[in-house]
Amino acid sequence: MILVTGGAGYIGSHTVLELLNDNYKVLVLDNLSNASVESLQRVEQISGRKLTFVQGDIRDEAGLHELFSAYPIEAVIHFAGLKAVGESVEKPTEYYDVNVNGSLCLVRAMQKAGVSKLVFSSSATVYGEEAPAPYKESMPRGTTTNPYGTSKAMVEQILTDIHAASKNTANPLDVTLLRYFNPIGAHESGLIGEDPQGIPNNLMPYISQVAVGRLPELSVFGDDYETSDGSGVRDYIHVVDLAKGHLAALNKMFSNKEAECAIYNLGSGKGTSVFELVHAFEHENGVKIPYKVAPRRAGDLATCYAAVDKAAKELNWRTEKTIKDMVRDTWRWQSNNPNGYKK
Ligand code: NAD
Ligand code: WQD
Repeated sequence: MILVTGGAGYIGSHTVLELLNDNYKVLVLDNLSNASVESLQRVEQISGRKLTFVQGDIRDEAGLHELFSAYPIEAVIHFAGLKAVGESVEKPTEYYDVNVNGSLCLVRAMQKAGVSKLVFSSSATVYGEEAPAPYKESMPRGTTTNPYGTSKAMVEQILTDIHAASKNTANPLDVTLLRYFNPIGAHESGLIGEDPQGIPNNLMPYISQVAVGRLPELSVFGDDYETSDGSGVRDYIHVVDLAKGHLAALNKMFSNKEAECAIYNLGSGKGTSVFELVHAFEHENGVKIPYKVAPRRAGDLATCYAAVDKAAKELNWRTEKTIKDMVRDTWRWQSNNPNGYKK
């Protein structure tokens, strides 16, 4: 059985679906602070399989001990966390508590239970601003510019240290750090997708909420970057490809002879600008996205995309879906569910 923390969320729900499709038994632990159980009900509907859901907090160590005693957990995929960059600047205590302290509670409970395999949701943000794209896993982590990014860099370091310290013990921690680039899109059924609370912080959900009439217009943050059309360039990855990357990581860990601390980028290796994404969305879906050009957003880079050779070689995984798939699937989800999981 695989324990998926944060499994009711955006990336978690898509990964749970792929795990069920691959015949894994799944236990989801989520406190529902940024998700609803409706996502998991829909995952069961799409897959035709059942999962086990426990509502709880990763910082509740006693609760974690109970879970590890009650279920035959072989590995953990750890998505649970807070992820809004701007909010993390306002609420650093909460971000470090959930993301860093929560991860420590989880690892302690795993070690106590003798569970050694952990996949962690990290982020391209840990590369910082110093080095130019494409970002390679061999590059050192850079300077993070907000508590969210710092919390991800800290957990990477903590897991690296725990792996090293436990390497020659009876229960070495086997860790995979997955650095996601920009996950967008939705499952092709249109039944599950991204459902941000309040005004979206990220580009794709903002575009789709403009398209569905929940927001009047998009602000394009800067058209004077040194990129092909002046707008910011990112490496967008379809959430279903991303979910499959977790299965590839897990399968590799199940075949590892020795515990490792491995790092993989999960991205497409291709850059797409804000204007290109907006135009692809309009063209593929036959909708208009009104926009205005606004000042640059603090902390944004001009260009960010992944080096993808390591994941291709060692995980035998690469992205399959295109920007067209991403914008079409986003729109299918958003137009079928204009208010997300709320009825
Ligand atoms: P999400 O908010 O949809 O999912 C996170 C889930 O964790 C939610 O279901 C939430 O209810 C749950 N959760 C939060 N705090 C918890 C706690 N204390 N105990 C138990 N559950 C808790 O976010 P997502 O986009 O699916 O992201 C999943 C992970 O991937 C996060 O760790 C995020 O930082 C990381 N990540 C996301 C992106 C992205 O752009 N979406 C990029 C890089 C990394
Ligand atoms: C993409 C592009 C914006 C909104 C963030 C986190 C990162 C990771 C993924 C978690 C940029 C532009 C955006 C809008 C715009 N998350 N934009 N108008 O900033 O690359 O990455 O999510 O780990 O850590 O920082 O993603 O979707 O916010 O922005 O013009 O309303 O769209 O300037 O060029 P970002 P994003």
